[in-house]
Amino acid sequence: MLNSSLNLAQFWDGRAADLKEQAGGPIANPGEMAFSHTLAVDVLQSIPGYVAEFKKAFGSDKVDIEKVTKAIAAFEETLVTPNSRFDKWLKGDRKALSKTEREGYQLFKDSGCVACHNGPAVGGNSFQKMGLVEPYQASSPAEGRSAVTGKDADRFNFKVPTLRNVEMTYPYFHDGAANTLKEAVDIMGRLQLGKKFTDDENAKIVAFLKTLTGDQPSFKLPILPPSSDATPRPTPFEKK
Ligand code: HEC
Repeated sequence: MLNSSLNLAQFWDGRAADLKEQAGGPIANPGEMAFSHTLAVDVLQSIPGYVAEFKKAFGSDKVDIEKVTKAIAAFEETLVTPNSRFDKWLKGDRKALSKTEREGYQLFKDSGCVACHNGPAVGGNSFQKMGLVEPYQASSPAEGRSAVTGKDADRFNFKVPTLRNVEMTYPYFHDGAANTLKEAVDIMGRLQLGKKFTDDENAKIVAFLKTLTGDQPSFKLPILPPSSDATPRPTPFEKK
């Protein structure tokens, strides 16, 4: 979920237009929560603490699925990871990156990775073909964007993933087939750009990618007091 608000659409094939639409899915999906929207709304409506929160946020104590998914999306928008070392470097802190990491960034730009992985999320803003120069041997039957659009031209197009926090988000690719960044960078070089990186170049690019790890959000569990309690309660997520 981290930085998912920066994506042009949700899921690898973009089948949910935005976070609000996505949030409605798992509640009713038999393979996920196996619930229904009506039941979910009934449960929330039966908890006075939630009813009070809905009243505060939406001006009405009537809970409905629109408000539920809107609230979940608003929460998810807070799950961003700023202040990576790369961000600090971009803001002018010359010491934030080592020489190796800077060389990795140069390779990332010069080799053409930035054609797809660009913008604030270093990705997340387009669908692109996986296996542009050489075909990708996928270990899942997923066919990508064409499953949503029905267009053959979209076959094996996937959302370009954000590379923020990428050192923590293994395994890589839509089928999770690459376990390490070294492997992912090697595959990207060969399949997307027709480039075979040396071990040294690969290591530099990986070093750069690791500078994209930012501050991770931390949570405080919300303690819902009885509805009569007038004292302010902690918010579930406190921004630093
Ligand atoms: C033509 C567009 C394109 C180019 C160029 C490109 N990528 Fe990608 N990249 C993608 C797409 C699309 C995916 C997702 C593919 C999939 O999941 O099947 C991806 C996935 C990745 C991933 C895995 C991220 C994850 O969370 O699973 C990494 C790491 C990555 N790219 C790094 C690079 C690097 C480094 C370069 C340059 C050597 C590069 N990419 C060049 C489009 C591109």
